[in-house]
Amino acid sequence: MQIKNICCIGAGYVGGPTMAVIALKCPHVNVTVVDSNSDKIKAWNGSLNNLPVYEPGLAEIVGKVRHRNLFFSKNIADNIDKAEMIFMAVNTPTKTKGEGAGMAADLKYIELCTRDIAKYSKTDKIVVEKSTLPVRTAEKIKEILISENKTNHFEILSNPEFLAEGTAIQDLFKSDRVLIGGDQTPSGQKAVQALVDIYSNWIPLNRILTTNVWSSELSKLASNAILAQRISSINSLSALCEKTGAEIHELSRAIGMDTRIGSEFLRPSVGFGGSCFQKDILNLTYLCHHYGLHEVAEYWHQVVKINDYQKARFTQKIIDGLGGIVKNKKITILGWAFKANTNDSRESPAIYVTEKLLNAGAFLQVYDPMVKKKRIIEDLKNILETKGSSSERINLLFKQVSIFNDLKSSIDQSDAFAILTNWDEFSNYKRETIKDKTIPVFQI
Ligand code: NAI
Repeated sequence: MQIKNICCIGAGYVGGPTMAVIALKCPHVNVTVVDSNSDKIKAWNGSLNNLPVYEPGLAEIVGKVRHRNLFFSKNIADNIDKAEMIFMAVNTPTKTKGEGAGMAADLKYIELCTRDIAKYSKTDKIVVEKSTLPVRTAEKIKEILISENKTNHFEILSNPEFLAEGTAIQDLFKSDRVLIGGDQTPSGQKAVQALVDIYSNWIPLNRILTTNVWSSELSKLASNAILAQRISSINSLSALCEKTGAEIHELSRAIGMDTRIGSEFLRPSVGFGGSCFQKDILNLTYLCHHYGLHEVAEYWHQVVKINDYQKARFTQKIIDGLGGIVKNKKITILGWAFKANTNDSRESPAIYVTEKLLNAGAFLQVYDPMVKKKRIIEDLKNILETKGSSSERINLLFKQVSIFNDLKSSIDQSDAFAILTNWDEFSNYKRETIKDKTIPVFQI
């Protein structure tokens, strides 16, 4: 079966870049990305300098293929109907209420788009799980499709995304592997082959791995858990280094040079952030409990606990370094994104550290080269609300915050600097620019 039209539901950090690359590499396929957020669609169709997602190289690709065979649309119904293959790349955040709150993945967006697919499909479809989902979600998707659309046949594939923000385009061009899980039936295998045919336009066949659906769904959660576990491992050792006179960067280098271990994901930090690691490990923990594997659940949960410990430890280091009191002290927060080369600030350690310092009475000057002022204000407001601050208190706390558009003006008259995102701009700039060498710079 040759795919001529793809529809992707969800125009976010995954849907936007992955579909741009598919459109670039498969000029014979029309790719339409739809989203219920019409502002986002407008922005994808607008100026290349202001796309909703910042990724190095993305704007150039969108510039090349947009209106050629890549389209962004808010018309979900028609584009579902038109496509032979539909990707679901909607968000799957941690549940905030109901059973499993604080741990399980909230599948309401997946459920909503599944219902849309059932409602608007007038022909058979291949439905591809691109979002990260708990193992066995495909079963539930199938149940909904079968019960709400009796005339068409649906094949469900799992094709989790392994791109990392900041290097998304590079990762999509040269994926370590593309994983495709499908039913072991003849029609399931035909659907798998249709997706293999898409990826094989640029990914060598030996890097396209086909498995059963459940292995594919679980592999994504497991990969993220293992990557985050390495970060928590090195961060936990950074605490021991500080007590013993060992130096964490030296330790990280020494460990990473062992080819059995490898050097990736062993860099010490204030903690991992981003929309995925924490939610995916909590989801994995929840699943283990669900299947009665409480020891396994606890093992993985500890990765998140160490991450929280590291963020708290870093904040305390700033407070201790400033004599135990930060009230009325001016601290410059350098970096808001959860890592360099992205404008994404979801679960960024900067948010956590800032909230604690604000509530301790510090005055904060924030600068990030890519995260917009509006986003920083929203993040701060959200965390203060989550921690139970009243709107009067939030208004008062906001008087302690200034947000800057450039690095130079942000660093005036500070009592301390805290580097929260490892943008090159900061490491190149650090000591030379801060004229007063007695001002402490906090960084892990
Ligand atoms: P996102 O929040 O950037 O984008 C999701 C989009 O889906 C939003 O624009 C939202 O408006 C839209 N949406 C939600 N429900 C909808 C519906 N019923 N109909 C139409 N549009 C709808 O999320 P992101 O970061 O792209 O993540 C998507 C999935 O991919 C998640 O499951 C995530 O865990 C996974 N993932 C994310 C990676 C990342 O680096 N951000 C990497 C790999 C996987």
